[in-house]
Amino acid sequence: MERPAWAPRGIDISVPSVSRMYDYYLGGSHNFEVDREAARKAMEFMPGLPKIMQANRAFMRRAVRFAVGEGITQFLDVGSGIPTFGNVHEVAQAADPEARVVYVDHDPVAVAHSEAVLTGNERAGVVAADLRKPQEILGGDAVERLIDLNRPVALLLVAILHFVEDADDPYEAVAELRDALAPGSLLVLTHASYEGIPLPSQRAAGTVDVYKDIRNPLIMRSREEIARFFEGYDMVEPGLVPMPHWRPETAPEDEDPYAFSGFAGVGRTA
Ligand SMILES: C[S@@+](CC[C@H](N)C(=O)[O-])C[C@H]1O[C@@H](n2cnc3c(N)ncnc32)[C@H](O)[C@@H]1O
Repeated sequence: MERPAWAPRGIDISVPSVSRMYDYYLGGSHNFEVDREAARKAMEFMPGLPKIMQANRAFMRRAVRFAVGEGITQFLDVGSGIPTFGNVHEVAQAADPEARVVYVDHDPVAVAHSEAVLTGNERAGVVAADLRKPQEILGGDAVERLIDLNRPVALLLVAILHFVEDADDPYEAVAELRDALAPGSLLVLTHASYEGIPLPSQRAAGTVDVYKDIRNPLIMRSREEIARFFEGYDMVEPGLVPMPHWRPETAPEDEDPYAFSGFAGVGRTA
């Protein structure tokens, strides 16, 4: 298969990647046939997957505007993905041109495309690092250059933690990042769950199996398990809720039923 100019050298384009599959669900063009095939297979079980992703992006944008409204001007977006419509730096810098944003991802396509999109943006940068190694994130060049850890930061862990297995101790990684943040920092989080999916769990499990097959397991956690990521944070109203219920700007009743899958929340460190 030909490697297009936007794809970094050395990536294996015969294996689907979660970030390129996500790009496909959202209608992006940075994906290959292997990604589209896996995404289509996942959608056979859950045809509403793109609706979940759209609700996730819409929540993320509301949460970023909320953070700016709270006076936060620094954003650390871990698992930022392949840039698409309405990225964190666009939303944050539209609300406050001084806002600083660092994207972090371990996927080479996400990193390369973020670098391309951010060219010339002096207040935004990218770190190639893994959430399972928080010190690599905190020690990343762009973090050191752009983020003052003595002032509040909005840490975004949006649609990433469900790709980190319990064996890799995601709770410890989240706690390590929390401990590096100044008081008044925010944790903005979404997470997949069987709770809220408008389908029997056995059917939704077909989607989980697709991710297992591509060796990037999707970990469905309960609301209670997701709430534990907020240890050390006070929940911002309305708490940990289905995505359309978090400070909606339109009537949640207008949302597709799939949009209520999983949970979203924002916490603030004391
Ligand atoms: C579903 S996308 C979410 C993108 C964006 N946060 C959003 O919600 O629109 C998940 C992203 O997390 C990244 N990711 C998964 N596990 C990761 C890890 N352990 N460290 C860093 N990035 C990771 C993937 O490469 C992918 O780009």
